[in-house]
Amino acid sequence: MLLLLLFALSVPSSQAWSFDYPSPIANLPSLWSNNNATIPYSATYTSGLTTRAILVRQNPAGYGPSFACGFICTAPCDTFLFAVFSVFIGENTNNPALNASATPRVIWTANRRRPVKENASLQINRDGDLVLRDFDGSLVWSTTTSGSTVVGMNLAQTGNLILFDMVGKTVWESFEHPDDTLLIGQSLRQGKRLTSASANWTQGQFYLTVLDHGLHAFVDGDPPQFYYQKRFNVTDAMAHSNMNISSSDEAKDSMVYISFLQGSLTAFASFNNTDIKLFDMSLPWRSSAQLMSLEDDGHLRVYGWDGISWEPLADVLDVQPDECAYPTVCGEYGICSQGYCSCPSRNSGDELFRHLDDRQPNLGCSPAIPLSCDLIQYQQLLPLADVTYFNFAYNWTTHEESCKEACLKACTCKAVFFRYQNDTYGSCYLMPKIFSFMHYKPEKIGYNLSAYIKVQMLPPPSASKDLGATAYHVGVPVLVAFIGVLILIIKRIISKKMQEDDPFKGIPGMPTRFSYKQLREATNNFSKKLGQGGFGPVYEGKLGNVKIAVKCLRDMGHGKEEFMAEVITIGSVHHINLVRLIGYCSDKLHRLLVYEHMCNGSLDKWIFSKSQSDSLSWASRYKIIIDIAKGLAYLHEECRQKIVHLDIKPGNILLDENFNAKISDFGLAKLIDRDQSHVMTKVRGTRGYLAPEWLTSTITEKADIYSFGVVVLEIVSRRKILDSSQPEGSTNLINLLQEKIKVGQVLDIVENQDEDMQLHGAEMIEVIKLAIWCLQRECSKRPAMSQVVKVLEGAMDAERTAGSETTSRDYIFNASSPLTPVQVSAR
Ligand SMILES: *[C@@H]1O[C@H](CO)[C@@H](O)[C@H](O)[C@H]1NC(C)=O
Ligand SMILES: *[C@@H]1O[C@H](CO)[C@@H](O)[C@H](O)[C@H]1NC(C)=O
Ligand SMILES: *[C@@H]1O[C@H](CO)[C@@H](O)[C@H](O)[C@H]1NC(C)=O
Ligand SMILES: *[C@@H]1O[C@H](CO)[C@@H](O)[C@H](O)[C@H]1NC(C)=O
Ligand SMILES: *[C@@H]1O[C@H](CO)[C@@H](O)[C@H](O)[C@H]1NC(C)=O
Ligand SMILES: *[C@@H]1O[C@H](CO)[C@@H](O)[C@H](O)[C@H]1NC(C)=O
Ligand SMILES: *[C@@H]1O[C@H](CO)[C@@H](O)[C@H](O)[C@H]1NC(C)=O
Ligand SMILES: *[C@@H]1O[C@H](CO)[C@@H](O)[C@H](O)[C@H]1NC(C)=O
Ligand SMILES: *[C@@H]1O[C@H](CO)[C@@H](O)[C@H](O)[C@H]1NC(C)=O
Ligand SMILES: *[C@@H]1O[C@H](CO)[C@@H](O)[C@H](O)[C@H]1NC(C)=O
Repeated sequence: MLLLLLFALSVPSSQAWSFDYPSPIANLPSLWSNNNATIPYSATYTSGLTTRAILVRQNPAGYGPSFACGFICTAPCDTFLFAVFSVFIGENTNNPALNASATPRVIWTANRRRPVKENASLQINRDGDLVLRDFDGSLVWSTTTSGSTVVGMNLAQTGNLILFDMVGKTVWESFEHPDDTLLIGQSLRQGKRLTSASANWTQGQFYLTVLDHGLHAFVDGDPPQFYYQKRFNVTDAMAHSNMNISSSDEAKDSMVYISFLQGSLTAFASFNNTDIKLFDMSLPWRSSAQLMSLEDDGHLRVYGWDGISWEPLADVLDVQPDECAYPTVCGEYGICSQGYCSCPSRNSGDELFRHLDDRQPNLGCSPAIPLSCDLIQYQQLLPLADVTYFNFAYNWTTHEESCKEACLKACTCKAVFFRYQNDTYGSCYLMPKIFSFMHYKPEKIGYNLSAYIKVQMLPPPSASKDLGATAYHVGVPVLVAFIGVLILIIKRIISKKMQEDDPFKGIPGMPTRFSYKQLREATNNFSKKLGQGGFGPVYEGKLGNVKIAVKCLRDMGHGKEEFMAEVITIGSVHHINLVRLIGYCSDKLHRLLVYEHMCNGSLDKWIFSKSQSDSLSWASRYKIIIDIAKGLAYLHEECRQKIVHLDIKPGNILLDENFNAKISDFGLAKLIDRDQSHVMTKVRGTRGYLAPEWLTSTITEKADIYSFGVVVLEIVSRRKILDSSQPEGSTNLINLLQEKIKVGQVLDIVENQDEDMQLHGAEMIEVIKLAIWCLQRECSKRPAMSQVVKVLEGAMDAERTAGSETTSRDYIFNASSPLTPVQVSAR
């Protein structure tokens, strides 16, 4: 029964595998402790994976992979899984087994949900149970076969881990407990699940299961949503077979399952020991060893053994209509259109949703303001044109308006779909969890659908509510009551007027008007100061669950109209690299601006930090430079009214949780009309970042570009432009740079030189050149911000575009003295 084919093999000369391999069979009783003293068959691969093999079933080279079972971990290897994995055991080469391309692939795991530590134990005990305990003795997993007459454990050539009894009969087998992978000959039975695994081996969110009416793939959730189904009809199939089955009752006794066979995935109904084929999905057959794995993107893929590792051969599920119907293809809230991902938006282009990571749009989107059940009365439904979903569940028939209303009332509803049946009636679908949406062409799907997505707005002023309470307490005496009513009416009128004043009232996405009282409450009486900007202090606050930053403007020296004009401008500017204005407060005494909260604070904290843990990698810093450039390019060149910032410096660059950089405080300096430079009467900005032309008083957006150049130098060098702690002669970074240019040691300006600099020195030099281009004394020679963006994104070379006679390279290597920094004392 037991085929013990131990080949006489040449053992690879790897140290880790330098013993003879363990046998594929273990007899009772056996105990293994998860450490390399007890399990000497250990190997660490260049991919960071370490295996400790308990049993190894070696396949002759050329036939297929060898399989092993044992403990396995990935770097840093503090937790382990007990698993069956495929291994490549090479012949005479040096250490091929440890080469990354031959990294083992996990086939089956016992304890994915509960990994164990060093010194965990695995035991086949006398009760006939295979038991996994953690280092502290706690029970983690067992085959629950105690009471049976297990005498040993065998790892079969198919990759099946088997407990067998005295006569060699299988008592328990891993094939009956599929994990994320099926091997040839393995079946997935009705009720069992094939569950995807994440890259870090934790349980994934997809599963494939066979139900009595078909094969289904679900994405887990509450409730799970299916994205694939292949139906079958067992009664029908039996009627068509030559079995004499008279009633569908008998069909109910059947057990359905799918089997991974050579060249197909086939569904069967098993009845009275007879199998009836239900369907057959043919698969490529090019290799003797194959596996099928449900992966973390929801795809079920077939892999073939190419002699060393597994190569993907085919996608098994034909998910309809296309790739876009995979639930996570564009992440949560993402809209998939022919494989491209975007975020829901309104035509106005404001930013109600944004990508979690601009560079990876497929990771999904998040709402600018998170949904909050506390603020359910301020939620709205945003219509989405030509958008549908991979699965519609939990519907009822109603009118479109009641359908929408039901969603607005239910805190759990994140989006709603309404599918028309006739002019007024249709099916209503409330979505409790949003995966990716699909774009569609209306003429293609054959039904009419409306889609709405829920968005959170912030509370409008609640003046009248407070008054209601006041009036209530006034009480009995008629006169007092009368006065109360009078006050009430007057206040109502005032509050109505206030609301009329609000130019954005009811326009979602536009800044909300707040009362001073609301903001005082939101900031807990201005108790947590985030910083002190050039225009006044900034406090942290909270509206519902939403964190905000409240800036109290001091001595604006503006009238109400001017203030409103600026709020309108700032509020209508939306760009991913600009800090978003959520609301404002304007009354007789107070002018406050409410911004989105940026949890990583301002850039200065990060680039000038001496602590290693806070320092940002070169890749992050480069991304931040691009972000700032894009934000400025938008302000200068793309938005309706050109905005010159006039105070670009690291303190005004804020970082969100993913270290996306956003410019803050824009629009607070004077607005400059397009094509018209403005004569400033007062020097603004910050010493060190001021362009030379402040002396001559003609200020254009080129002043921002100079400041940008300074910021770039600071980001590259990780030191402040003016740093009095530096030795004499180096206190000004620009002077220092000029010195270093002369001696050809430009990178000497970088502080804390590390490995990052060794690797990216050439790129840093290019960025410094770009900064120099921005720092030219003559402002007309500085590039436009859009040019800077193009250079940073690699579309243009700083040299080729730097202008006719002077190139940035000239400034690096022939620097006569074009960069003399100006030292204007501002304020
Ligand atoms: C176990 O293996 C690891 C990595 O292969 C090694 O660092 C460690 O020293 C080994 N421990 C023993 C006790 O052999
Ligand atoms: C790893 O193995 C593959 C296949 O044998 C081989 O092509 C590659 O050169 C090896 N890499 C190293 C670093 O040994
Ligand atoms: C594992 O057990 C061995 C032997 O009992 C012991 O020397 C070692 O320190 C233990 N390792 C850990 C990480 O507890
Ligand atoms: C593993 O990956 C999943 C998703 O890929 C993630 O949610 C989870 O936090 C990760 N777990 C660990 C321990 O890294
Ligand atoms: C299966 O087919 C039979 C006969 O054709 C039919 O009566 C029955 O409703 C079908 N069952 C399902 C679940 O479609
Ligand atoms: C099915 O039943 C019919 C009569 O009802 C009989 O003639 C036939 O031989 C039976 N077929 C099988 C495969 O038992
Ligand atoms: C089940 O199979 C047995 C023998 O194989 C046969 O005697 C019996 O009639 C079958 N029952 C049905 C319902 O087909
Ligand atoms: C949705 O509604 C249609 C028509 O009312 C119905 O046929 C279908 O079974 C419903 N689906 C679910 C999942 O409730
Ligand atoms: C629309 O369908 C509903 C439910 O089927 C029905 O009650 C109603 O009369 C229909 N309305 C029209 C205008 O056809
Ligand atoms: C969809 O709506 C349009 C316009 O209301 C109508 O002309 C068309 O017939 C509808 N299509 C379906 C499939 O109901």
